[in-house]
Amino acid sequence: MADFFSDYLKTTDERLLSKWAHYFDVYTRELTRFRGRPISFLEIGVFRGGSIPMWKGFFGDQARLTFIDIDPACKALEIPGTSVEIGNQADPAFLADIAAKHGPFDVILDDGSHVCAHQIASYENLWPHLAEGGLYLVEDCHTSYWPGFGGGYRNEASFIEYAKRMIDRMHSWYTDQDALFPFDPIAKELHSIRCYDSIVVAEKRTKTMPPTTIYAQNGKVTRSRRALEIRGRKSAFAGKDGT
Ligand SMILES: C[S@@+](CC[C@H](N)C(=O)[O-])C[C@H]1O[C@@H](n2cnc3c(N)ncnc32)[C@H](O)[C@@H]1O
Repeated sequence: MADFFSDYLKTTDERLLSKWAHYFDVYTRELTRFRGRPISFLEIGVFRGGSIPMWKGFFGDQARLTFIDIDPACKALEIPGTSVEIGNQADPAFLADIAAKHGPFDVILDDGSHVCAHQIASYENLWPHLAEGGLYLVEDCHTSYWPGFGGGYRNEASFIEYAKRMIDRMHSWYTDQDALFPFDPIAKELHSIRCYDSIVVAEKRTKTMPPTTIYAQNGKVTRSRRALEIRGRKSAFAGKDGT
């Protein structure tokens, strides 16, 4: 297990922390670059509050940390330098209030109900409030295979199937199947979507221009969209991608 977390777990107090063991490597790999910076972090799901001091120690004193939970008892778990807000992660009005008060967020981590419809609702309402360069993590995505959480193998309503569709949407520049597969503006800001065991990570990095090929020869560098053109990919040239 990664260093910060293996050390931290031995210093925990009576607050229960509950995470799958293989998540700590993902946290280290994805979140280390945010440490020691004045970032804004949001975690959905407090439970017994065990993750509150963990994230404070990991990100450092400059970070602003917000936690939300549907259970009013979680408010008492707030510690100095953190905010716990009470509400439903599937309620757009609540999420808009949270974003107005504490956003935009550099990192959003959904460890809430793990109900697929809730994960999707939170993602859709909070993605616009993710800062440039920010990460949105959804954990316990194995519930996408559990009917009791709105999942089931290849269930279209599951979060994993939603994430798979996001891969298509990210590539919607490259199609000429305009009617079947229209351009999706999320392609402009979804830099990548990474799938670990039970954790999906989406990264926001706005593209300043549509995809181009770089040709470099004899020190001369040119950009071209010809690779799309010659394959008959018309969508990227039809103005529907905003170019
Ligand atoms: C897995 S626990 C959170 C664990 C905590 N993040 C940790 O690391 O120790 C899930 C929490 O989500 C909360 N929850 C369940 N449904 C919710 C909803 N619709 N909106 C917000 N929170 C919800 C539960 O009350 C519970 O405290």
